[in-house]
Amino acid sequence: MSLPNQVYPVIWYQDHVRLIDQTRLPLEYSVVEISRCDDMALAIRTMIVRGAPAIGVAAAYGMYLGAREIHPNPALKDSTAERNDFLNRLEAVAQKLRATRPTAVNLFWAIDRMLKAARQTIGTVDHLKQVLLETAQRINAEDIETCQAIGDYGAQALPSSPDKLRLLTHCNAGALATAGYGTALGVVRSVWRDGRLERVYADETRPRLQGAKLTAWECVQEGIPVTVITDNMAAHCMKLGMIDVVVVGADRIAANGDAANKIGTYSVAIAAQAHNLPFYVAAPLSTVDFSLSDGSQIPIEERDPVEVYQVGETRLCPPGVEFYNPAFDVTPASLITGIITELGVVKPADLIQFREKQVV
Ligand code: MRU
Repeated sequence: MSLPNQVYPVIWYQDHVRLIDQTRLPLEYSVVEISRCDDMALAIRTMIVRGAPAIGVAAAYGMYLGAREIHPNPALKDSTAERNDFLNRLEAVAQKLRATRPTAVNLFWAIDRMLKAARQTIGTVDHLKQVLLETAQRINAEDIETCQAIGDYGAQALPSSPDKLRLLTHCNAGALATAGYGTALGVVRSVWRDGRLERVYADETRPRLQGAKLTAWECVQEGIPVTVITDNMAAHCMKLGMIDVVVVGADRIAANGDAANKIGTYSVAIAAQAHNLPFYVAAPLSTVDFSLSDGSQIPIEERDPVEVYQVGETRLCPPGVEFYNPAFDVTPASLITGIITELGVVKPADLIQFREKQVV
């Protein structure tokens, strides 16, 4: 398997998108080529691409691919009618992509930004399509810069003692989950670069094991020391003094700072508070949903129960059992020490000050 130096899970290449297939890592590094909107929607739904910012970038390209498939209706008489028809059909493309996954707001944010770019552009349909491609590429490039800023702000905010930190994270909020560099793992990368990281503890993150598979893989690529633990070991490790700080990502943050992230994050936050450890959420402003006053309004994805009762081809549970498989939970703002954004680190109650600064 040939391995990349830097991980970019979504890139535009010539006339198509290349996605790192995250369902195959860490055993196999493979790239999927996507040229059609339907294939992008499927890739998001099946988690070939996953992680809130990464699916936002993927959806932006999905909008362009869908736009590219819209061909002019010969019955239309003039360019105004053609433009209106194009924008109506682009809305149908948006609907298809919106239906892929419900929780990560970056998906909806990116789709809305693409629609806005098209509606605000004057000119031919061909020109609108070109603007959509450029907007998707801008969203992609901006996300990498955003993650680097998050990493650096996070590195400044983390405790200054001990000299080298032992940092616990949950799920994968790394380069794989963004356009590159990562949010929580962006903080890890910056702290590692500064020589202030002792070790990452990665919760395995049942049921889909993003920590064991993806966070561990990313750390190994860069030589960052990583220890994988099962989710139910985190509180024990805290009690033994093995953890100095917790940093996680987010899929949607409400205006009051309540933060939805991968299922199990809430229990890590409770354990951190019980052990008096700082608990940070690292996320771009595109993950903040200022339209929601609190986390109870965040839609939580429920996934196929097979993820709970089966590992690989092996069924774990007897027949006759019922299952519940929420993919995310909401950590209340009261358990969050700070939210690390590309504009700086704020207390959850102060997040609202960034409302006007969000690019929409
Ligand atoms: O279901 P997933 O793998 O898409 O969930 C990902 C997470 O919960 C991440 O922690 C979150 O998206 C932040 S990614 C920078």
